[in-house]
Amino acid sequence: MAEVALTGVSKSFGETPVLNDLSLHVPDGELCVVLGPSGCGKSTLLRLVAGLEETDAGHIHIGGKDITRTPPSRRGVGMVFQNYALYPHMTVAENIGFPMRLRKERTEAIDTRVRDVAAMLDLSELLQRRPRELSGGQRQRVALGRAIAQKPAVYLLDEPLSNVDALLRVRMRTELARLWRSLNATMIYVTHDQSEALALGSKICVLNEGRIQQAGSARDIYDAPLNRFVAGFVGTPPINFVEGTLQFDRNLFFEPWKLPLPLEASAQLAAWKGHRVVLGVRPEALEAVGDPGTSFAIKAEVESSEYLGSVTWISCRASGQTLIARAGSDAPRKTGAWCHIRVDRTRLRWFHPDTGVRV
Ligand SMILES: Nc1ncnc2c1ncn2[C@@H]1O[C@H](COP(=O)(O)OP(=O)(O)O)[C@@H](O)[C@H]1O
Ligand SMILES: [Mg+2]
Repeated sequence: MAEVALTGVSKSFGETPVLNDLSLHVPDGELCVVLGPSGCGKSTLLRLVAGLEETDAGHIHIGGKDITRTPPSRRGVGMVFQNYALYPHMTVAENIGFPMRLRKERTEAIDTRVRDVAAMLDLSELLQRRPRELSGGQRQRVALGRAIAQKPAVYLLDEPLSNVDALLRVRMRTELARLWRSLNATMIYVTHDQSEALALGSKICVLNEGRIQQAGSARDIYDAPLNRFVAGFVGTPPINFVEGTLQFDRNLFFEPWKLPLPLEASAQLAAWKGHRVVLGVRPEALEAVGDPGTSFAIKAEVESSEYLGSVTWISCRASGQTLIARAGSDAPRKTGAWCHIRVDRTRLRWFHPDTGVRV
């Protein structure tokens, strides 16, 4: 049993509050991805669980036991730091075995464990090298190996892929997900990279301003964001926000576009008749076309286009606002050309204009 539970945890550094009455529950064996912008308190959260910082308020339980005041070495956690924190003068083998040596385990047991872990991480050939003789990705694996060698009940990974190059990062996140399944371990994985968070799947907690903004599956976070911050932080290109008013004429429609709402949404938003709202609509739910035929479309002027191979994004202006839309096959792509934007009306999300909360 190694579920992790934070209850009402707060932490400030001097006058600066970092985490504010934060609660988080990670069931045994789950991979929980904590996603948030730089400086939002992700590392602080992990350091509190590891015992490298003390909480100001609240409790932390691991496997049902209150470890809020337990020293780090007795919490059963293995942490992988953002900068790896390898000892430069030690070999790979010595780095991996270091925590076991600290605990005065038998030399043979350490050697066996180091060899097993190295094999698991494809480091067997590198055991006698020093960190400076390794690539970024290899160092990252050594740091991971050092955590694994301790057989922790809980893994804490602090942006483990931020220092490896883009191509390797994509491969390694798949490997990490596989490793997590084979270790059968509870993991808290912290990242500022939303695509990494979505790709790792599992449960995602979006953190901002010291609070968890939303916790859910990747699909929940992407398709049903609870507020504007979550909607805007996840997705590339980012979601379009358009400010307007919901008007009524037999049915609700969205000004400035005169976009009629589907019946169900119209009923749900009845109370918003005549009010300002912010529409959130993802770029892939807007299709720029040359000829819209008879379907509803918004006339827009092309600003620029971005060809990415599998998809082209068109940035255009409609009613004084910039929109990003997916280019249909006949979409005009030249700056200044006119296009028409079709809207997938099942994918409209509405936010309060002042609080940013989903309505
Ligand atoms: N030891 C510390 N002393 C003072 N301020 C700190 C300390 N550690 C972190 N902070 C501050 O706490 C905030 C959150 O930091 P951190 O947890 O490292 O964020 P993240 O990992 O999400 O980038 C930042 O404003 C940072 O400057
Ligand atoms: Mg950090």
